[in-house]
Amino acid sequence: MDNRVDYSYINAFISGLIKLNDPLLTEMKEYAESRHIPIVVPETARFIEMICAIAKPRRVLEIGTAIGFSSIIIAKALDSECIIDTVEVDADMASTAAFYIRKAGLDKVIRIINGEALDVLQCLDKPYDLIFLDAAKGQYPQFLPHCLRLINVNGILLSDNVLYGGLVAKHGTVEHKHRTIANRLREYLEELFSADNLITTVVPIGDGIAVSYRKV
Ligand SMILES: C[S@@+](CC[C@H](N)C(=O)[O-])C[C@H]1O[C@@H](n2cnc3c(N)ncnc32)[C@H](O)[C@@H]1O
Repeated sequence: MDNRVDYSYINAFISGLIKLNDPLLTEMKEYAESRHIPIVVPETARFIEMICAIAKPRRVLEIGTAIGFSSIIIAKALDSECIIDTVEVDADMASTAAFYIRKAGLDKVIRIINGEALDVLQCLDKPYDLIFLDAAKGQYPQFLPHCLRLINVNGILLSDNVLYGGLVAKHGTVEHKHRTIANRLREYLEELFSADNLITTVVPIGDGIAVSYRKV
C-alpha cells in the first residue's frame, strides 16, 4: 500500500480557482495529460508567474523542459527582452517543446538545450536571475552546486516537487520504492536550508515548491 499523504483536496480547491484562458496552453495541457507527461499543476504555474511578475528576472534557466509548458508560462509572464534557457534530456520531448514554443512565437526568447542536465550545467557560466528546477528528483543534490554557482545575487531558485507526495516530511518508514528519492530530497532541502547565502522556505502547493532567495 502507498503511504503518501493525501492533501489533494486543498490543491484541487486552489486549482479550481485558476482558469487557463490561453488556447495554446490548454492544447498543451491536453496533450500532456493524454500522454501522461508531467507538467506543472495550475497552482504551481500561478506561483511561478507571480514570482516572475515580482522579481522580473532577465535571464532564466529551467532544468526539465518536457513539452515546454512551464517555459511558455514563464516567457509570457516576462517581457520579450528576457532569455530562457531550458534543458531537456529526452530528444522527442525537446522537439515537441520546440514545436509548441515556435507555435507560441517564443522561439527568440526560449532556447532549448537538449542534453543531460549535469553535462549541460557544467558548460554554463553566465549567471541567471531565476532558476526553475523541475527534473529528476533523485538528482537534485547533484544539481545544487551548479544552481548555487549559477544563481545571481538577489536571484531566486525554485525547486519543484520537493515534498514528493508528502513522503519527504513523513516520519517512520517510507516504502522501499520511494525511499531513495525521499532521502535525496530531504538531503537537498537540508542543504538549501543550511546555506548561509540563501533564504529558503517550502510552499506546500502542488507537490511542494522550495523557494530560495540568494542573498549577497
Ligand atoms: C516534470 S517534467 C518537466 C515539466 C515542465 N517543467 C513543465 O512543467 O512544463 C521533467 C522533465 O525533466 C526531464 N529530465 C529529467 N531528468 C533530467 C536530466 N537529468 N537532464 C535533463 N532533463 C531531465 C524529463 O525528461 C522530463 O521531461
